[in-house]
Amino acid sequence: MDENGGATFVREIVLKSNFILRIHQSAVGDVGCVVWDAALVLIKFLEMDEFFNENGTHTMENRTVLELGAGTGAVGLAASVFGAEVTLTDLDDHVALMNKNIVANRSVCKGPVKAACLRWGQNVELAFPKPSYILCADCVYYDQSLEPLVKTINDLSNAETIVLFCYEERIDKNELHIHFTKLIGKNFNIERIPRERMHPQFCSPDLHILKLTRRS
Ligand SMILES: C[S@@+](CC[C@H](N)C(=O)[O-])C[C@H]1O[C@@H](n2cnc3c(N)ncnc32)[C@H](O)[C@@H]1O
Repeated sequence: MDENGGATFVREIVLKSNFILRIHQSAVGDVGCVVWDAALVLIKFLEMDEFFNENGTHTMENRTVLELGAGTGAVGLAASVFGAEVTLTDLDDHVALMNKNIVANRSVCKGPVKAACLRWGQNVELAFPKPSYILCADCVYYDQSLEPLVKTINDLSNAETIVLFCYEERIDKNELHIHFTKLIGKNFNIERIPRERMHPQFCSPDLHILKLTRRS
């Protein structure tokens, strides 16, 4: 059951070193109640060697991470397993499911995790400090959200922030991604992660990762 009394079913995500995330997904709900492929691809990207320092620690360890449009919270929870201090955010309706997943995964989370409501476009200056990393999976899928989402990414970032953004190319949504890229490109450098740098089993020609850093 979720915290609203609805049924959930668990998706297991096996991470490096055999840590297993057990992510509750709601049987009934909107798009945020299940783990999307973009989330899995982003989680598995975070396991690649480029995220590990020579001493074996993850580059997110002890860094602040904020996930936007987190849904179940799977990506942010993976960052917490790697030692990050994580804030999962989504619309108010999703906070209960994110909290349920925080509790369910407490034993594998190394860094502290909390869930909060953050509606894109809302004023975030005081509510959320600027994180080292912003994670965002499968969040471009309707036109009205693009400008608010870009505003939130702008408001929450500074010169040091790294935004990792994973999206799925869908025939009917391609225009949205082109529009998003134009909007975000005004203030951010966009690096497209080539397939060779993604996890060899968790990649697909229609799933893309962008690394965004603020233009100086
Ligand atoms: C397709 S789901 C992706 C969920 C999760 N990131 C994943 O990949 O599994 C899109 C998410 O964006 C959230 N979302 C949509 N519009 C939003 C808005 N205006 N403000 C905040 N979150 C929003 C939805 O609630 C949903 O959880």
